[in-house]
Amino acid sequence: MWGGRFAEGPAAVMREINASIPFDKRLWQQDIAGSKAHVAMLAKQKIVTEADAAAISEGLDKVAAEYAEQGVPVDLALEDIHMATEGRLAELIGAPAGRLHTARSRNDQVATDFKLWVRDAIDSVEAGLVALQVALVTRAEEHAASVMPGFTHLQVAQPVTLGHHLMAYHEMVARDRSRFADARARLNRCPLGSAALAGTGFPIDREMTAAALGFDGPTRNSLDSVSDRDFALDYLMAATQASLHLSRLAEEFIVWASQPYNFVKLPDSYSTGSSIMPQKRNPDAAELVRGHSGRIAGCMTALVMTMKGLPLAYSKDMQDDKPPVFEAHDLLALSIAAMTGMVETCEFVTPRLRQAAEQGFSTATDLADWLVRVADIPFREAHHITGTAVKLAEAEGLALDRLPIEALKAIDERIDERVYGALSVDASVASRASHGGTAPDQVRARIAEAKAALGME
Ligand code: ARG
Repeated sequence: MWGGRFAEGPAAVMREINASIPFDKRLWQQDIAGSKAHVAMLAKQKIVTEADAAAISEGLDKVAAEYAEQGVPVDLALEDIHMATEGRLAELIGAPAGRLHTARSRNDQVATDFKLWVRDAIDSVEAGLVALQVALVTRAEEHAASVMPGFTHLQVAQPVTLGHHLMAYHEMVARDRSRFADARARLNRCPLGSAALAGTGFPIDREMTAAALGFDGPTRNSLDSVSDRDFALDYLMAATQASLHLSRLAEEFIVWASQPYNFVKLPDSYSTGSSIMPQKRNPDAAELVRGHSGRIAGCMTALVMTMKGLPLAYSKDMQDDKPPVFEAHDLLALSIAAMTGMVETCEFVTPRLRQAAEQGFSTATDLADWLVRVADIPFREAHHITGTAVKLAEAEGLALDRLPIEALKAIDERIDERVYGALSVDASVASRASHGGTAPDQVRARIAEAKAALGME
């Protein structure tokens, strides 16, 4: 299609390095939609005749039907999806096909196609993230008052509820959704009509094509339009952050499912066996989610490196934009679906969670707080007194609430029997009723807000 000024055809290796059809065939639906919007505009502006436009539009429908049925044929000589589609159109309708590319370049065409693809990808990720939030909220409601240890440094810190822990992930996913929504809003200006880099002398109507393709309007600068891949990077950065959250949830499931923890039983449907150790149930799906997050970050880095230092406007380096976005999207979609399935179907071992919460002197802060509240002791001094009590409990091999009152009084005479009311894990979580705290009533309030926002019930 560009052979006019060449005496020789490309070397085989040139053909191979140049071709993007093996991967950009994935843009075929967007490419057809973009071409149909373009030719309708060319007809309305009387740049092509109604008859030619009708032949082109019907021909594009035929090409689309062929692609849908048989897949996109991969012919490296046709370079990319844009040339493949135009080539097939020419075979089907003959001469009028040559008018489709009037007032257009592959540079604005590919930017438009890819934006349309990323926009669809964002919409499908959004649906997946909503399903994950629904799963988290559902399980959180079930366990709004189930006590478990909260950790810092992976050391038992203070009792929390499992519902509170799961709702922490709901918050992360809410931020992920807002990042994808930001990316979508920023993306939604149409580059079509920017042509190769400078705009076009034909009397095109960019508002019309932008509206036909669901954009908010045309882009404002033709040079920027064909050289901008921010939208792909926005997608990859949002995907990286989302996958990072998924990897943290996956890691917790992996640790929690290990025998010494035994906080959760992953269902058979998300576990695998070992070919040698008959007793094994391995959390492979969660491990792959953890692993995929690294690959997604790698895809993000790949496109950052591709774009770094590129002069305006289009350079062929930019053809490398698509594989990392496609790869990251596939990995992210699978990761979201796998984590959603695990959250929905896992079995939390609540007696074990409670038992673990009761270990590790998790209510030591409650003892210190009690000394402040009831005996009016400054917090720093209360902290010291409590430390002494913990040291004694550890030496005796007892939980804090099993220390006899005489022993506690011997540490500080201001302690009396009422202290036991503060030392149970249930009393501890119930007391943390500050906004956003782990008290079951607080957790239920946050769950009610989340359910309303998600349109649940
Ligand atoms: N296959 C190319 C891409 O994906 C299309 C744009 C080609 N433009 C050009 N001037 N060679 O970026």
